[in-house]
Amino acid sequence: MYASALLPIVALFPVALGQLNALAKAKGLKYFGSATDNSELSDTTYVSILSNISQFGQITLGNTQKWVYTEPTQNTFSWTQGDVITSFAEGNGQLLRCHNLVWYNELPSWITSGTWTNATLIAAMKNHIANEVTHYKGQCYAWDVVNEAFNDDGTYRVDVFYTTIGPEYIPIAFETAALYDDTVKFYYNDYNIEYAGAKATAAQNLVSSLKARGIRIDGVGLQGHFIVGETPSLASQISNLESFTALGVEVAYTELDIRFSSLPPTTAGLTQQGTDYVNTVMACVETKNCVGVTVWDFTDKYSWIPSTFSGQGDACLWYSDFTLHPAYYSVVTALGGTATATASTVTSSATTLATSTVTSTSAKATTTSSSGGGVAKWGQCGGTGWTGGTSCVAGTTCTYSNAYYSQCL
Ligand SMILES: *[C@@H]1O[C@H](CO)[C@@H](O)[C@H](O)[C@H]1NC(C)=O
Ligand SMILES: *[C@@H]1O[C@H](CO)[C@@H](O)[C@H](O)[C@H]1NC(C)=O
Repeated sequence: MYASALLPIVALFPVALGQLNALAKAKGLKYFGSATDNSELSDTTYVSILSNISQFGQITLGNTQKWVYTEPTQNTFSWTQGDVITSFAEGNGQLLRCHNLVWYNELPSWITSGTWTNATLIAAMKNHIANEVTHYKGQCYAWDVVNEAFNDDGTYRVDVFYTTIGPEYIPIAFETAALYDDTVKFYYNDYNIEYAGAKATAAQNLVSSLKARGIRIDGVGLQGHFIVGETPSLASQISNLESFTALGVEVAYTELDIRFSSLPPTTAGLTQQGTDYVNTVMACVETKNCVGVTVWDFTDKYSWIPSTFSGQGDACLWYSDFTLHPAYYSVVTALGGTATATASTVTSSATTLATSTVTSTSAKATTTSSSGGGVAKWGQCGGTGWTGGTSCVAGTTCTYSNAYYSQCL
């Protein structure tokens, strides 16, 4: 009995046909990307997702281009680990954000414990930048030249560079980098500059002062380490991005993750996480000269959050077991994709694999068939430019998130 064999759906394996990078590019971004790290590249499930250029068109090196890895002993350079990741990205045809040249953290002890004069530290910094930019010349889309130079109140962070050289270490770093690669985009990168305030203003003043002096700075990276429910609104993120692009630089979200401050997440929390991700991704889409979004790893399995913020986590778009957060589907639908699923139908008399289109919700939530006619739970049901369905399946309501996005919740 063929017909009845198809009826009992015992298991659903949602497969998202929406693909982040393909959809982001269709919306005008250059890429949707992820950070990664060397140790993760032995995980075959992880690698198969990360290598999929439909999902990720860009890779950021999480650690192994940092100073402690690349110049562990003064003037002795080690590119082996960084090269593993740059080769991986190049093999997949993915863009590279190279990260980073000057940062207060992950420095070798010869820097942090050295005895420096202004002149000797400037010389060491210039030598580091010259060698690293030269080694990776032609491979990077962007370089984070200086990372996290400001405190939250907009004052300069006190580190060995600031203490020894003064604020002039930043212009010197940018000026030096520009000598060794004409084509890469040089960025300033920081967190807590995703909304207006003293720190964003300090970063903008840095851009203006470099430009006024004729020193090349091409972009500002807004890290985007957010907390569920405390992520700035779409409108405020757009206006903040525009306050940077108005200065003649491009912008990007460079380290996006949106963590729960307590675990496990509630259903309402997962919905909020979707809204927060959408507001951030769509702020970039809606801002001219916002070029891309990079997540600071795509799976909770390799997120930095639990080890840094005790008791917090689930900040990524994929869970640790590589099933998808509801937020993944929210982002896909916001980017104009559809999240569909392959249903596997099993009966007592025979096993029949049938492919049916089911509008998917989430691997962690009840899946709702689209046969009711409306938009499925979590799906987009309205917003500026939205031409898809506006009525939601039974049990859900089309809920306004922002001018660009309403969602069936
Ligand atoms: C990339 O991922 C998408 C979404 O999971 C999938 O449909 C597609 O087949 C994958 N492509 C490759 C080459 O694995
Ligand atoms: C260090 O030297 C640079 C370059 O000459 C100069 O601009 C800067 O002000 C000096 N810093 C200090 C603390 O003297």
